[in-house]
Amino acid sequence: MEKMEVKKKGVTGYLLYCVATAVIGSLQFGYNTGVINAPEQKLRMFFRNVSMERDGESFSNDTITLLWSFAVAIFSIGGMAGSLSVGIMVDKFGRRKSMLLANVLALLGGGLMGLSSLCKSFEMIIFGRLVIGVFCGLFTGLTPMYLGELAPTHLRGAFGTLHQLGVVIGILVAQIFGLESLLGSDLMWPLLLALTIFPALGQVIMLIFCPESPRYLLISLNKEEEAHKALVRLRGCEDVRDEIQEMKEEGMKMAMEKKVTIAELFRSPAYRQPILIAIVLQLSQQLSGINAVFYYSTSIFQSAGVKQPIYATIGAGVVNTLFTVVSLFLVERAGRRTLHLIGLAGMAVSALLITISLSLVTQYTSLSYMAIVAVFAFVASFEMGPGPIPWFIVAELFSQGPRPAAMAVSGCSNWTANFLVGLCFPKLEELLKSYVFIIFLIFLIIFFVFTYFKVPETKGRTFDDITQGFARNSGNPAQSPPSSVVTLPVSPTTEKVPMVE
Ligand code: GLC
Repeated sequence: MEKMEVKKKGVTGYLLYCVATAVIGSLQFGYNTGVINAPEQKLRMFFRNVSMERDGESFSNDTITLLWSFAVAIFSIGGMAGSLSVGIMVDKFGRRKSMLLANVLALLGGGLMGLSSLCKSFEMIIFGRLVIGVFCGLFTGLTPMYLGELAPTHLRGAFGTLHQLGVVIGILVAQIFGLESLLGSDLMWPLLLALTIFPALGQVIMLIFCPESPRYLLISLNKEEEAHKALVRLRGCEDVRDEIQEMKEEGMKMAMEKKVTIAELFRSPAYRQPILIAIVLQLSQQLSGINAVFYYSTSIFQSAGVKQPIYATIGAGVVNTLFTVVSLFLVERAGRRTLHLIGLAGMAVSALLITISLSLVTQYTSLSYMAIVAVFAFVASFEMGPGPIPWFIVAELFSQGPRPAAMAVSGCSNWTANFLVGLCFPKLEELLKSYVFIIFLIFLIIFFVFTYFKVPETKGRTFDDITQGFARNSGNPAQSPPSSVVTLPVSPTTEKVPMVE
């Protein structure tokens, strides 16, 4: 009886261990996203001191702002390169070995940043941020892929959402460690940036005891015996025939599907609409302005007259984490489209409130509290929909054949927009001052209208239903790619769109 229960749920201690190991990658992405926020003034001072020592005169304020924005934004250039390389890497090395190899980048990037002060080199910070960005870009693909492939079908979505939860916890940890009394001091900031080395070492050690993904072993390498062995360990029971059979079917269907290139995604009318939706949803995540908060909230709170801005920043991290948990429970009830709309609308209203409080705070000092509440509401609304949904909806909009190309294109769009926000925000803030969030407000309204008219609800629908829907809309049902849609095995549990169960 107990054994049957285990089989049904498929969650063993060993599986959880493997999941935890992969989620270290998400934590690292979050940590390196959030870590740059608190030590802004220390880094600006460091740039100034280095220029003084080298040339006897300090860089101008403009040059320092440019260097600082560059150090923030170059992380996303690395992310673009990393996210685009995931497909090639996993095909060549597999999932587990790719994660092992990626960690070399964390050691290198963390090492460069950690030693920058000792070597009096701001270039090492900038180069280190680039390397860490590539590392994080890789993990935005590697972790969700490994989690999705290890999860029992009925839990695939819940496991997928753990990626975003890992990200937000990573951001929070970075914010707490960034406190002046912890690692955000004049002396300790290099360690704050280098700390990423330790989880990397931890993950490498933990990965030694993790298996390669059984799906990769069986479907890509045709190693049935090894896949069987790994699956028995993960599921904690000997009888894994059903799952092996399901993978074999998937493998057969995959063999029949032709691989879809990035160019074909845009050429074929059947893919044009879903790829547009995938890209716009990823853009809506980044151009909502969320990372203006996570990269620069300390200075936003400062301009709102908040006395201890770092604590408000940590508050934003706590709200961020809480609302990711809320959305984890809501996403299967309210549906993706509804939650995305609610999230965008909430962010738009909050952006307006942020603008009002920032512009009037000099007259009414108590408005600095409103600024804090508005930023918290902005973050909470983000995690309701625009945070988690774009990461997993792409997989729902495409079937096996076009999925890797679609993931690469949409992942890279996400990182590109992330880069633009990181690079432009400080300059825009200088230009527009308290009105800077109006830009995000405009974007949010555009994305709301787009989502309302163009994004279909995918909750509970089969891949077939979703992709046929797009084919019908493209006005050419005959063009619907018959072999590259719907590759789900026919069982009641797997018939559902799988990412979030
Ligand atoms: C998402 C975004 C990331 C952002 C984070 C905030 O994971 O991709 O850029 O910093 O959410 O929670």
